[in-house]
Amino acid sequence: MPTDKELASTDEESSPPHKGPSMSNATRGRILFGGDYNPEQWPEETWHEDVRLMKEAGVSSVTVGVFSWARLEPTPGAREFGWLDRLMDLLHDNGIGVVLATPTSSPPPWMGRLHPETLPRDEDGRIEWWGGRQHFAHSSAVYRSYAAAITEDLAARYGSHPALTMWHINNEYCTYDWSDTAAAAFRRWLQDKYDTLDALNTAWGTAFWSQGYDIWEGVLPPRHAHYMNNPTQVLDFKRFTSDALMECFVAERDIVARHTPHIPVTSNFMPFWQGQDAWEWAGREDVVSVDIYPDPRDPFGGQYSALIHDMTRSQARGGPWMIMEQAAGPVNWRGVNHPKPHGLNRLWSLQAVARGADAVCYFQWRQSRQGAEKFHSGMVSHAGERGRTFQEVKRIGAELALLSPKVADSQVRGDDVAVLLDWNAWWASQQAGRLSSEFDYPAVVRAWHRALWEANTTASFAHPEHDLSAYKLVVVPQLYLLTDAAIDNLAAYVRGGGTLVSGFLTGVADEDDRVRPGGMDERLRELFGIRTLHEWWPLDADERADVEGFRGTLWSEEIEAADDVDAVVPYKGGELDGLPAVLRKGRAWYLSTLPEPDALRTLIAGIAEGAGIRPPLDGLPAGVEAVRRGDLLFLLHHGRDTVTVPVPGRHRDLLTGEDVTGGVELGRYGVAVLEAAP
Ligand code: GLA
Repeated sequence: MPTDKELASTDEESSPPHKGPSMSNATRGRILFGGDYNPEQWPEETWHEDVRLMKEAGVSSVTVGVFSWARLEPTPGAREFGWLDRLMDLLHDNGIGVVLATPTSSPPPWMGRLHPETLPRDEDGRIEWWGGRQHFAHSSAVYRSYAAAITEDLAARYGSHPALTMWHINNEYCTYDWSDTAAAAFRRWLQDKYDTLDALNTAWGTAFWSQGYDIWEGVLPPRHAHYMNNPTQVLDFKRFTSDALMECFVAERDIVARHTPHIPVTSNFMPFWQGQDAWEWAGREDVVSVDIYPDPRDPFGGQYSALIHDMTRSQARGGPWMIMEQAAGPVNWRGVNHPKPHGLNRLWSLQAVARGADAVCYFQWRQSRQGAEKFHSGMVSHAGERGRTFQEVKRIGAELALLSPKVADSQVRGDDVAVLLDWNAWWASQQAGRLSSEFDYPAVVRAWHRALWEANTTASFAHPEHDLSAYKLVVVPQLYLLTDAAIDNLAAYVRGGGTLVSGFLTGVADEDDRVRPGGMDERLRELFGIRTLHEWWPLDADERADVEGFRGTLWSEEIEAADDVDAVVPYKGGELDGLPAVLRKGRAWYLSTLPEPDALRTLIAGIAEGAGIRPPLDGLPAGVEAVRRGDLLFLLHHGRDTVTVPVPGRHRDLLTGEDVTGGVELGRYGVAVLEAAP
């Protein structure tokens, strides 16, 4: 095998959005149910037991091969397909479809040993050795060449196997790499972007701290430095990393697509993960899939799930999406790992379906007895088929089979609201040297989504440059960095009659992370009725800013309103006394602080109502979520006390088969799926 130096660069232009086969080739009108299946961890007798239990639980799909590279290629270039042949046949004979993974997220130990340049390095130059997983240098031509070869052979061998329903490329792409190999690829990426060193020096503001570059070879990834790294260098490195990983994905996708143009391709996202610009990635997948692990002890776990569902559904842009992984019980990577109390797995699984998922799958089928994840739950736990976990899994499987014909491929309704989300803004806002490290971008997004969720308003997510004209309300929790195109888009949206609500620290920087004159873009100041933004006043973690009618958290701003502002809610007391905390000009709202949750919910509910948005159902008891998907109304109770949900008209609950007139009672973690009675 040639070395990285000998191999030509495998860089390619980012490919255009991908239009491939649809998921219906895989689902065939069903909600897929199943999980990651790692049969290489078990003797073959167990496979037969597995298949028996899978059928009992209504499993229709398993994801195979995610971590099988060393088993498939035990020595360089060798191929051991016999076990996978037998497994694919066994699954097919039992009516179980296979999402076949390329095993490229965890190279065999021989690769690092023979080709040390395939191992990534952290920012301190330390090697990430084999013995764990995901130890691949994304820009190593050697790694990419081995990955392409095993992908090619898998596609050639199993492309026409009747069990194959979908391709799963790699697993949770998430490696950063600061090695020399990555440095060379980073420079190529920068040369493509900037063309000249002068342009790079200007974009990065290298006049600051004597950072001007004289030759390209001097440009490095942002490695460990004495004091804060150049923020635009860090921003470009994050952009580069997402692109480099995406090149790996696209290369494997193109190989399998050449063999099987009719089989959809996905790669599972970690939710709300910084490392991949999910808008960019999702456009290159046939099916968007996500792994989701809310903490069972988190009182807002259900809201977090809803956020991930809304985000993934939006990334799929009307297409299907899947829960590729969730846990049937505890995970094993938190400080303390709690099991899911009885009913919670079912509630969160049905919630995913309510919010649009066409597949509900788990990591993993059978709980491992060895290895780092032996205490991570599986659909079949250590307790086996009599265990509570498996019994609940069986119930979920049966209920999904009931719902499938009514639900699969149908759309979630009521998406009048878009929450804007952007990875570039996230990356730039996380920099060292910011004014407050008391919050991060996901927390702010989550606070706004929670307000919408509690106000019983189904929301979508969108990119700030997407066409927003179909939405009645657009919410910007925070977009520290905005391109000119995005700013013009927001202004055009409001001019076109849309209602826009923006949170603090929005429109501060341009795409090079250069602060815009005035500390906030002039077009946005004009839009919101801000004459001057004098100073930012971040708040300490436990500090509150008193505002007329509520208390603000995290942040406040010293703003002078313009004469044409329509309404102002002032700060009360303190340095900002009397200055505007909230401004409204026409249909554009700006909040210079983050109201406490109840106040934010009240505010957003009022604005949504003013924008003509109706909740899916009125009069919901607290903690009950209502979502309409297709013709069905899902009622999901996130609490433990029995409640009665008033439901006008006559319905049938598809889960119980019972008629519902006037209202439905939901017990602890209860769910009803209502269809209007004829
Ligand atoms: C991720 C991975 C799985 C497994 C789970 C554990 O989602 O993709 O392989 O490690 O985490 O929660």
